[in-house]
Amino acid sequence: MKTTALTLLLVFSSCIAAQQPPKAAIASAHYLATEAGHEILAKGGNAFDAAIAVSATLAVVEQQSSGIGGGAFWLLHRAKDGKNVMIDGRETAPAAAHRDMYLDENGEVDRDKALYGPLATGIPGEIAGFEHIAKHYGRLPLSDSLQPAIRAAEQGFKAYPRIIRHIKHKRKVIERYPASKAIYLPGGEPPKEGDLIVQKDLAETLKAVAKHGKKGFYEGEVAKKLVKASELNGGIWTLDDLKNYQVKERQPITTQYRGRTLVTAAPPSSGGIAIATILNILSAWDLTDMDKTQRVHLVAEAMRRAYRDRSIYLGDPDFVDMPIQMLTHPYYAEGLRASIHPDKAMPSELLPGIGETPKGEDTTHFSIIDTEGNLVAATLTVNTGLASGFIAEGTGVLFNNEMDDFSAKPGEPNAFGLIGDKANEIAPGKRPLSSMSPTIVFGDEDVAVVGTPGGSRIITMVVLALLDFFDGNKPESWVSLPRYHHQYLPNRLYAEQAALDEDMVKALEARGHEVKVYDRTWGNMHGVYWNKKTGEVLAASDPRGTTGKAEVK
Ligand code: GLY
Repeated sequence: MKTTALTLLLVFSSCIAAQQPPKAAIASAHYLATEAGHEILAKGGNAFDAAIAVSATLAVVEQQSSGIGGGAFWLLHRAKDGKNVMIDGRETAPAAAHRDMYLDENGEVDRDKALYGPLATGIPGEIAGFEHIAKHYGRLPLSDSLQPAIRAAEQGFKAYPRIIRHIKHKRKVIERYPASKAIYLPGGEPPKEGDLIVQKDLAETLKAVAKHGKKGFYEGEVAKKLVKASELNGGIWTLDDLKNYQVKERQPITTQYRGRTLVTAAPPSSGGIAIATILNILSAWDLTDMDKTQRVHLVAEAMRRAYRDRSIYLGDPDFVDMPIQMLTHPYYAEGLRASIHPDKAMPSELLPGIGETPKGEDTTHFSIIDTEGNLVAATLTVNTGLASGFIAEGTGVLFNNEMDDFSAKPGEPNAFGLIGDKANEIAPGKRPLSSMSPTIVFGDEDVAVVGTPGGSRIITMVVLALLDFFDGNKPESWVSLPRYHHQYLPNRLYAEQAALDEDMVKALEARGHEVKVYDRTWGNMHGVYWNKKTGEVLAASDPRGTTGKAEVK
């Protein structure tokens, strides 16, 4: 007995001894954000303080993707006690929101109202998330972690092709609002590459948060300006909406795949549940050694089924009961698998469900590991590129258009072509269903942290990256991998050109898939990897983004 205990102790200590402490690594969509995170680590902050610095800096330099007028999910792993938690800073519908608020007199969805200007905007959660993380998980005061972002807003950042493209695309909406015009169309024209975008008002708003915490945003002068600007431009925000905003801690979705544990986004994200369903379905097959076309067929069929469930069952957990246990259970996946023909696509219309669908280059993701092994996978958003196009006068705050992530009408596709039903209908205080899927994978020897923007395609991009990781590949490969996607409706398999060659397209069409190959790409994935045994730490930023930076220090 004594010998057994001693042996166990020796084995346990040799395991601990065998773990090599990691170097710190950060991969994000903008070099200034990655550098901000490392600056905060160098000041004695941990991964969670760094996550605030990266998020806040992205909110300044990558406004087409995220911002303090938007929301986020931060998935945290605390090394000292192994706690995994998702900080839910998702936007909420204002108290005056109602189910039919975007329907016109003919009962049709008014897409302009649902997407542009302050009526399209949920109550932002990002700042409340910052305060919560700093208070409960960080080591530095919030004011320290916000300094790099304040500097970037005050001193400006260089305009780059991706943001210029979004400004040009949203020009007509931006022109409606003077404060938006002043930032994005200085002198009446979009900035040129290398021009400095300076945001003095945003710097002042961030300083108010540095001084007063979340009250500097949700109450006081900034809140008054936000509500007034909303009112003057057709919005329905009130001071109470802002004051009542609550960040939530959510228990992440966990699932097993090929001997490793995945910890991933919980509702109000649909991501974790869909990822679990897809991997459970695929778990019966050896995908690594499978013919490439057959692999795409089976993965697409699994995606189709998980997205059908998304559209029917999922919504804000504070408002709807969801059969999460069923949807993530291997037995349920077995049933779904049984409906997959090995070489015939199942038309989506034959799956019981609701009645179309995608694109998306909005949103942003970053991944962090610090030298203690704390991990952060965070996906942040303002919804579509440059969101509602509306900046509130005197605040620098770009309002999200996250209300479009609700189902404005059952079966009616949103900006991502996603459909929904009752579970995701609009209600006051409710969070719109998201696809953001920050994910951490724990193996005996290694750890992977990954995520991406990309609207409805986020989930399938993360699945493809995970499958690549399980094939033994490293972050460089996950983030650059050619992508394909199926989301149930429309009944179509989308693919980047590099994902499917002509023969594969023909073979998939012969199986009954309608295949649409794009000449454009999607996503902007950032991942980090730690091999606990060798101490190897790797980080990679998607080559599709032009400003990303992955740095191990
Ligand atoms: N706004 C994109 C998402 O949350 O899925």
